Amino acid sequence: MKFFIDTADVAEIKDLAVTGLVDGVTTNPSLIAKSGRPILEVIKEICDVVDGPVSAEVTATDHETMMKEAALLLKLADNIAIKVPLTVDGLKTCKALSDDGIQVNVTLCFSAGQALLAAKAGAAFISPFVGRLDDIGISGMDLIADIADIYANFDFDTEILVASVRGPQHVIDAAKLGADVATLPPAVLRSLYNHPLTDKGLDAFLKDWAKTGQSIL
Ligand code: G3P
Repeated sequence: MKFFIDTADVAEIKDLAVTGLVDGVTTNPSLIAKSGRPILEVIKEICDVVDGPVSAEVTATDHETMMKEAALLLKLADNIAIKVPLTVDGLKTCKALSDDGIQVNVTLCFSAGQALLAAKAGAAFISPFVGRLDDIGISGMDLIADIADIYANFDFDTEILVASVRGPQHVIDAAKLGADVATLPPAVLRSLYNHPLTDKGLDAFLKDWAKTGQSIL
């Protein structure tokens, strides 16, 4: 399973990239706004830090302008994936870009039918938002399971990129379902390291080790 980081905070990305666990980055207009920085500058900087796909989202709502925005974003680096919303114009843009060999991440997916359309439009990634579905009392993980079944039935190459992840259990559940990618807020990736028994066990090992008076080096 690949881990992308869901942030436009370059300092956070640099901090996590050194773990060797970061396979890509996803951004969206809200995350760019939160960074307080110009989109082209911040996306370029992220692409210099991470080798894997960096999703940069178009903000136009019509196909022609989406294509113009995508062309500008694609000039920034070789590892840009263009993110488009799951709308008629978004999927037209997805088809046109995918036909040119460009990786497209289709975002704001909330149903299996939408995911089927995105795969048919050639999306490299489909981003179902599990947390936002859970927020309204609908199981986000049931959607991941449905999409996984449908994509397997037809051998679609589109990767399931689990988005709107709220905590470690989402990551575990998505991994059990065989999702290809999870995009994680930095705090969620950090939380995956943690277990109180790890801390307690390490503390006991170190105390016992100190009693031996030994040193490996
Ligand atoms: O990048 C899209 C997605 O991960 C947004 O998450 O927490 O705003 O629902 P959230």
